[in-house]
Amino acid sequence: MPTKRPEDLRSFRWFGPDSLRGFSHRSRMKQLGFDRSDFTGKPVIAILNTWSEINPCHAHLRERAEAVKRGVWQAGGFPVEIPAFSITETYFKPSPMLYRNLLAMETEEILRGLPIDGAVLMGGCDKTTPGLLMGALSMNLPAIFLPAGPMLRGNWNGKPLGSGTDLWKFWTERCAGAITADDWNAIENGIARSPGFCMTMGTAATMTALAEALGFTLPGASSIPAPDSQHPRMAMQCGRRIVEMVWSDLTPANILTLPALENAIAVDMALGGSTNAIIHLCALARRRGLNLDLDAFDSISRRVPVLANIRPSGEFLMEDFFYAGGLRALMAEIADLLHMDCLTVNGRTLGENLAGASISNPQVIRPRSNPLAGSGGTAILRGSLAPDGAVIKISAADARLLRHTGAAVVFRDYRDLEARINSDDLAITPDSVLVLQNAGPLGGPGMPEWGFLPIPQKLLERGVRDMVRISDARMSGTAYGTCVLHVSPESYAGGPLALVQDGDLVSLDAAARRLDLLVSDQELARRRTFWTPPPPRYQRGYGALYTQRVTQAHLGCDFDFLESGAPTPEPEIY
Ligand code: FES
Repeated sequence: MPTKRPEDLRSFRWFGPDSLRGFSHRSRMKQLGFDRSDFTGKPVIAILNTWSEINPCHAHLRERAEAVKRGVWQAGGFPVEIPAFSITETYFKPSPMLYRNLLAMETEEILRGLPIDGAVLMGGCDKTTPGLLMGALSMNLPAIFLPAGPMLRGNWNGKPLGSGTDLWKFWTERCAGAITADDWNAIENGIARSPGFCMTMGTAATMTALAEALGFTLPGASSIPAPDSQHPRMAMQCGRRIVEMVWSDLTPANILTLPALENAIAVDMALGGSTNAIIHLCALARRRGLNLDLDAFDSISRRVPVLANIRPSGEFLMEDFFYAGGLRALMAEIADLLHMDCLTVNGRTLGENLAGASISNPQVIRPRSNPLAGSGGTAILRGSLAPDGAVIKISAADARLLRHTGAAVVFRDYRDLEARINSDDLAITPDSVLVLQNAGPLGGPGMPEWGFLPIPQKLLERGVRDMVRISDARMSGTAYGTCVLHVSPESYAGGPLALVQDGDLVSLDAAARRLDLLVSDQELARRRTFWTPPPPRYQRGYGALYTQRVTQAHLGCDFDFLESGAPTPEPEIY
């Protein structure tokens, strides 16, 4: 790796010159109380902090930023904490996914427009991890990811509660009349007990783990629970390390390679990770000009066993995963399936970082000899209903339904679903296939997590707990069931999903990786003559930009103009 001199630092262009602008930039730092020697010729480190008072997953990140600063100062850098868009999964409507690309743009432009030499990216709640990484990748300054860490286990009468997963489970039981309002209130009190992100294997735990598998975190960082005292120590180490990364010019482009992406996919499968990871990894790859075809997920899925016994696929929670050895232990167990020579942010290879890691609780992280599933955490489906692909999380589905043909019960959008799903006259049986249209990137808009379609009340009361459900939506990583997701192209854009009608036979065969609409081509052609493109959801603002430029799910839902291309020029300093 090349090493830099102080005058080679990017920030030196702002702070070094004996010029009118140099004077201005230095004098304003002095206005902030710093000496010239604090910031001139020193790596200026942006601590991009997605803290906000309405993001409980990141409630501790202000304190952690102080730990990062301590590390930066110790290593001879100059830290500046900069707020970044705090996409809180719980509260952002209509869908936080609508805003991932906005955070990515903000990250890239903050790093480009300011006198920054390197960045510590602080995130964790679902979309913040890919958003920060995508932006940092496009700007390609040295960057290290600091995962917010999972919250502690939930608790209800001594029983562990998992974010999301137990919400869905107990809501279903409440709808079926199986638990009381008092029980429900007690669960509400106990399900989120500390700062940190969802502690099931949802999108947050998956994406922070994949950030580590890609090489963007310090070894072991993604598994540390947010309240654990190891967490601020890790934060401080991020501060120290990023200064070294600036001097050695270790950038995201050195880290994000095709083998590193294949490692992330393998780890995703071994975790039984969130299906959302597929979209985010495709987007990250395309930012680097790498074509990560959906088939790569399927082929890697077939050879990687599911080892993490974490809800929703398994039994335990992220706190247990940490005590069992965390991600390093899991990766060491599948070392022969990983590219061990990939470079990571600490300057060492993945293989070097996994030395000595081992499983300390084989109930939580299963050994290869006793996997949760032999293969296939996630499968990619294709067929007449999903020409560009669809996704199913096999590890969280009812095995009985993985090969199933049933008559469609179609909802034209989420409002229609809410209005009719529990109506007495809904013609539906346990063998029906629930179909939701207009819930994709354009139709949702923002591809909301509506793919976990509710089971109708009258079937719940008969004991039905799973059905085949198909949509162009996403599904929370904490959810479970036989849910076919990300159908592409989406119905709002005229994909075949738009043409499905009540009573059509739909065939799912997960083993054969098929999803087919059993309707003749002539009939579908006839229906298409009556289909008219719906109007754009937005006429102005960010939503209009999103509507015009977002790509489909199988391409990562990025904006087409943010994928790889001609580099954006460094700003002139006048
Ligand atoms: Fe933030 Fe689940 S709500 S990670």
